[in-house]
Formats: sequence, C-alpha cells, structure tokens
Amino acid sequence: MTPTHQKFLTALIARECGQVLEADSGYASDARLAPVAQQFGHDDINHLIQHIMTTRAPEAVRAVVEAIVTNETCFFRNGAPFRHFSETALPALLAARAETRTLRIWSAAASTGQEAYSLAMLLADRKAALSGWRVQLLATDISESALAHARAGEYSQFEVQRGLPIRHLVAHFKQAGDRWRIKSDLRKTVRFEQFNLLDDPSHIGCFDVIFCRNVLSYFDQDRRKTVLDSVARQLNPDGYLYLGDKETAAGAAIDFVADPTTRGLFQPREAPPGQALAS
Ligand SMILES: C[S@@+](CC[C@H](N)C(=O)[O-])C[C@H]1O[C@@H](n2cnc3c(N)ncnc32)[C@H](O)[C@@H]1O
Repeated sequence: MTPTHQKFLTALIARECGQVLEADSGYASDARLAPVAQQFGHDDINHLIQHIMTTRAPEAVRAVVEAIVTNETCFFRNGAPFRHFSETALPALLAARAETRTLRIWSAAASTGQEAYSLAMLLADRKAALSGWRVQLLATDISESALAHARAGEYSQFEVQRGLPIRHLVAHFKQAGDRWRIKSDLRKTVRFEQFNLLDDPSHIGCFDVIFCRNVLSYFDQDRRKTVLDSVARQLNPDGYLYLGDKETAAGAAIDFVADPTTRGLFQPREAPPGQALAS
C-alpha cells in the first residue's frame, strides 16, 4: 500500500471504529483487504482505497471496517469471568433484584455470539430460579457479518471445541451435518443488534451486568477512556463490569474497584450492597 493510502486508511479506521492501525500493520491490513478489493472489482488495495477517498462509498467503507476488525472469540473465553458470573454475580443479583425480578445483561462487543450464548447457557442453568423473571440479554457489535453469524447460531466443530463444556453442547446444540446449531429456545433468549461503541449508548438503558471484553485494547488511550466512560454509565451502581483479562477500568470517570478474584472484573466503588435499582 502506498504511504498516502495507508495514511488515509489509518484515519478512516480510527474514525469509523476507533481501532488503531499500527504503523507496521501494513502486511496484515493488505491480507485482510485483498478480498474486499476483489469484491468491489479493484485490481489491488490502493485502487480500493482510492475509490473510497474519492467516493466515500458507505458500502465500501463498511466492508473495509468489517475486514479490519478482529472477531477472535470463543465460548466461555478465559473461563474465570463466566464462573464468577454464574457463581457470584448471578446469585447476588437474584437476591438484589428479588422485588423487580428484572435482569439486564449486555455483551457489548459480541463478535460471532459465543460470549452472549455462553451467558445464555449459564442463565438457562438457573431456569427454575429465574422463572417469572424478565431477563434481557442484549448482544451488540459493529460488525454486521459477525452479527449474522451470531444470529444464525451455527458453529463449526472447531468453534464448539474451543471452550464449550460437553454438557452445554449436549443440552443446547443440535448437529446439522458438520456444524452445530444452537437450539432455538436458547437462541431466542439473546437479542443481537448492531451498535458502534463510539456512539452514545444511553438509549439502550442500564444493565446489571456488562461484558465489554477484548475490544478496549484496540482503541487509543483517549478513545479507550471515552468508550469505557460511556459503557460504564450504562451500568447500575451495584452491577458488574467484565473487561478483558488485560484490560482495566482504571482512569474511568466512575470510580471502579477491581475484583481481586477475577481478572478484568470491576464494580463501582459506591455499590450499595444488595440494593436493587431501576433498569
Ligand atoms: C476480539 S473481539 C472480542 C469478542 C468478545 N467480546 C470476546 O472477548 O471474546 C472484538 C470485537 O469488537 C468489535 N468491535 C471493534 N470495534 C468496535 C466498535 N467501535 N464498536 C463495536 N464493536 C466493535 C469487533 O467487531 C469484534 O467483534
């Protein structure tokens, strides 16, 4: 890619999705963008970027963003946050929300859905205790292609082998040829919507649990803080914020306490113990 096109691409990606393209990422970007150039009928990536520079064609911009973002994920990724959610957060919230019987959970960079479905399976484990409750599980991502995969709820053998306990596979999946399809009763418990974390999330309301894992690290420092603050504003004061294992809520406008038992887990410092809040 020419330096001019690389510079334009870096600015475009930062503006559209907040991701920082490292100066030495040229080779990786080239590999990801070659199929997009082909899809839009261009001989090479420079022609694709030139086309965007002159036309700003939204569908080409979207395709470039889709190709650049990293959708890496798996079921029950890193284990510990999901164990904490199931064994500690959920029982505490069941007690704290006993009156309103409402629970709202947000998977804020849901990729192809494994994170949200992992949470859905843990909620299904508590079916009896949650009977009569209004449980909302919202999963959002910027990538429409990742969301299409997530909505279909269909995974390869490789994808289900990564992190999914056999008891969950047996309980919630049906084999369809060489693929595994999530049973529709579980699939229907998750609502997938497109949402860019650079936008204001206030219209989607407040949540008791937010998983915003392995996305902040792709942003530069300023964007990381802006996104962290806007996501944190959607968390109820006694809620749980799960970031990636290497991500931190330090520096956020809300004062968070890191949970010593689970990496990447934060709670607002002023959490009123056991107090239910309106969602
Ligand atoms: C590495 S995946 C993490 C998936 C999952 N949270 C996990 O931890 O396994 C990062 C996801 O963030 C999404 N993403 C990147 N920039 C975003 C943005 N500005 N708004 C919303 N999602 C974004 C990507 O599309 C991708 O699906």
